[in-house]
Amino acid sequence: MSDPKRLAGEKAIDYVEDGMVVGVGTGSTVAYFIEALGRIKDRIAGAVSSSEQSTARLKALGIEVLDANAAGPLKLYVDGADECDPHKRLIKGGGGALTREKIIAEASETFVCIIDPAKQVPVLGKFPLPVEVIPMARSLVARRILALTGGQPVWRDGVVTDNGNWILDVHNLSITDPVAMETELNQIPGVVSVGLFARRPADIVIVGGEPPKVL
Ligand code: 5RP
Repeated sequence: MSDPKRLAGEKAIDYVEDGMVVGVGTGSTVAYFIEALGRIKDRIAGAVSSSEQSTARLKALGIEVLDANAAGPLKLYVDGADECDPHKRLIKGGGGALTREKIIAEASETFVCIIDPAKQVPVLGKFPLPVEVIPMARSLVARRILALTGGQPVWRDGVVTDNGNWILDVHNLSITDPVAMETELNQIPGVVSVGLFARRPADIVIVGGEPPKVL
């Protein structure tokens, strides 16, 4: 059987319409989507990319990468996730691109999330929650997160995001109210963004398989 990530990535092409500027996420599942997008590149107007990694992949296939400010509102965003609950709320940021991913998700009318079946969970939090922080606030944010959630923040040492920031991965959470947690963690000074996509969840989830499941 084919890789479920490939099956999910290729299925997402169904949502691409002629002339679109497509919002493109980051990661190994998205890499399959980009590969498929390359095969229909003459039908689209270009892409807005969520990371330097995806930008390089898009450009290598001859797909024009547009500035998010110039592109304006997007009709479609396709991205992967680290966890997805039954309400299509997500943990993202395993690849460190959460902030730009969140910006594009917010700018998009339809967010299609592409995952393999292992990403489906009843409750978010087994996957450590990524939080992007301004470097000087790392220690303050870690203390606040511990006090507020009881989860254990671990610095992703050696990783610098595309925005020049650092990442804390918060372990041992069971996120029963993801909207409340996202809102609360967003308020800590020094937090750039939280890898919870609950206030703006996915609209459509494609779970890779033969055939892919569309939720
Ligand atoms: C990157 C992400 C990715 O979508 C997430 O980590 C899933 O990656 P993959 O498709 O490689 O499993 O949020 O910041």
